[in-house]
Amino acid sequence: MGRSLPGGRGLRALEVRRQERTRSILFSMLRIDFVTLFPDVIAGAMSQSMMKRAADGGIVQFETANPRDFCYDKHMKVDDVPFGGAAGMLIKAEPVALALENLGILPDALPSDVEIIVTDPTGPRFDQAMAEELSSKRRIIFLCGHYEGIDQRVVERFKARAVSIGDFVLTNGELPALIIADAVVRLLPGVLGSADSLKADSHSDGLLSAPNYTRPEIWRGETIPEVLKSGDHKAIERWRRAKSLEVTRKVRPDLLAKAKVDKADVNVLSS
Ligand SMILES: C[S@@+](CC[C@H](N)C(=O)[O-])C[C@H]1O[C@@H](n2cnc3c(N)ncnc32)[C@H](O)[C@@H]1O
Repeated sequence: MGRSLPGGRGLRALEVRRQERTRSILFSMLRIDFVTLFPDVIAGAMSQSMMKRAADGGIVQFETANPRDFCYDKHMKVDDVPFGGAAGMLIKAEPVALALENLGILPDALPSDVEIIVTDPTGPRFDQAMAEELSSKRRIIFLCGHYEGIDQRVVERFKARAVSIGDFVLTNGELPALIIADAVVRLLPGVLGSADSLKADSHSDGLLSAPNYTRPEIWRGETIPEVLKSGDHKAIERWRRAKSLEVTRKVRPDLLAKAKVDKADVNVLSS
């Protein structure tokens, strides 16, 4: 790779590294553990792109623990059939409890800045507000279900909070855990190049984001909205807000009904 030139991207990279160092000095790093039967799925996702950068920068630490390594009974099996004749298999309670205890997590001594989450389609739905709440934790432990899920007794014993990522069912809890972890980690100071991009994100203020465009200015005969070339920051801001309101009304009117809107927004919506 070539050396970065002074200024531009080189300076930006230096600034990002400075922010990362400041965070790791000022704040304790967030630790995220995944209790999973498939640690390679987690390792693959966390060794790329922004998550890797966050880990390399000392902002977050990712660890995995496999309940399969804690199967000490006669058959060394991590799963078994559910009582009552339900279909499928369930992850047994004991290997999960031992994996948690091996991570230093004791059921009756969970500090308030540590959260255990069990990915579960029956839980409350994950959203941006939950991501923000979780980003203030010191440690998050995900219990990733598989087959038909996990024996409920270990979930309750460790007071794990059920979280669903949506009204559909996946084969595994690793993908939901990765989605939640990604949404949380990108909120941590120093992970994104600019804190401003968080403010402009969909859902940060209850609305969806305005559309964006990059070079070339004319692509296959299509141009971009004139105002974005004007250099008039106030006009651009007004345009973005109007687009944001328009898109939200069209695609997610339920969000608009709950969003904070001012007089100017009401004028835009009624024009
Ligand atoms: C096949 S699912 C089990 C579904 C469960 N029997 C039910 O009907 O609620 C296997 C695992 O995938 C994960 N999972 C599937 N869909 C999910 C969702 N929408 N949100 C969070 N986790 C999910 C959970 O960890 C779950 O234990």
